[in-house]
Amino acid sequence: MKPLIACLVFTSLLALPRTSHGDERWKITMRTLENSLQALLYESSSSPRFAEALKKESFQKEIARFSSTASELSERKGTSGDADPSIELISSLFKQEAQHLQWAAKNKNTEYARHLVLSMTQYCVACHTRTSGGIEFSSRSGNEKIEALDAAERASYLISTRQFDLALAELQKQLSNQKLPEENIRDWERSTRMALSLSIRVKNDLSATQALLTQLDANPRLPEYLKAQVSVWKKSIQDWDPKSLPKTEKALNAEAKKLIASAKKTQEYGMDPSAQVYLLRASALLHEQLRLFPRGKLTGPALHDLGLAYETLESVGIFELKDYYYLLCMKESPHSAIAQSCYRQYERGVYDGYTGSGGTHVPEELQARLKELKTLSTPTQKSGAKKPL
Ligand code: HEC
Repeated sequence: MKPLIACLVFTSLLALPRTSHGDERWKITMRTLENSLQALLYESSSSPRFAEALKKESFQKEIARFSSTASELSERKGTSGDADPSIELISSLFKQEAQHLQWAAKNKNTEYARHLVLSMTQYCVACHTRTSGGIEFSSRSGNEKIEALDAAERASYLISTRQFDLALAELQKQLSNQKLPEENIRDWERSTRMALSLSIRVKNDLSATQALLTQLDANPRLPEYLKAQVSVWKKSIQDWDPKSLPKTEKALNAEAKKLIASAKKTQEYGMDPSAQVYLLRASALLHEQLRLFPRGKLTGPALHDLGLAYETLESVGIFELKDYYYLLCMKESPHSAIAQSCYRQYERGVYDGYTGSGGTHVPEELQARLKELKTLSTPTQKSGAKKPL
């Protein structure tokens, strides 16, 4: 059961300047995060090592620095040079999780704190892999410090520090182990997802994506159902021309919608990963739409569709992210058919999240919150009798 934090909907969205890169303050925050992350991961390669480190005041201070830099990031979101509201959503989730880490470390909750350090990169990854563009490094100093981590953790670190080519190479090396699907199917799934997200969204590179899919397909030990999945992924790039990126809000949104429709057709069940490649392509377009037109006419529908895409792409985003997109969608387009559709998705998540073997128990405050959100999303008489979706 995962608590859904529903407080974000009433915070204001900043209108960001349309520069393509972050300003100096943003860069300094990022570089500080990089140093801190490196220091934390260095001690996280094993439980005993981490337990020893936690006893040291200097390590506790490093964790505190990481957490305060994450909070700073959340305050500085307006300096990132990227108007995609995802920056605000992800930085607020990142800040909460970093505070959590500081709390766990202080209380010597060793295993939990170590787990949190290792999963911290997912926030860096979620922000850095939304779409292509932005600074990229061929290599950075200090990579040797993370050599003791496992392959997926190393790749996440490399993405977190924007060494995208090295990250892709690391993932391909891991996937070249033909026994991987038999040894650990979760690792295979996670690494293919990360690699595809890199080649499709960050590198925007058709031949790199083809090469990756050919490599996956060539594995004779791949179980039949994954072979079928890879063949759907191959089909999903047949019409892809990375050079023809639509320019207007309408065209970006229309193209994304088309891809989401294709994704739905390929899914044989709820979160069937067969749709992954279409959804990665669609989400890159939606992030681009929101970056260029953060408060446009089609912001509500884009947020709704990102929520949907991240239901399946969970592991390249963050678990709660989809709910935040639905919340923001209701705020951005209140009393509309699209808000109503976002409300229903959000409500479904709440009921799912609060159902366990003991039945369904939605906390009272969340029930009250749902009521407010329902009012916020229901079309009013005045706004015209729009048909619910
Ligand atoms: C809320 C979104 C977000 C999160 C979270 C985030 N980043 Fe970034 N990061 C960005 C953006 C946006 C840029 C600027 C990319 C560009 O346009 O060049 C950036 C740039 C960077 C840079 C390059 C700075 C430079 O010199 O130009 C580094 C290094 C970096 N991030 C490291 C990290 C690390 C490490 C983490 C996680 C601990 C992290 N980032 C988390 C959004 C994020």
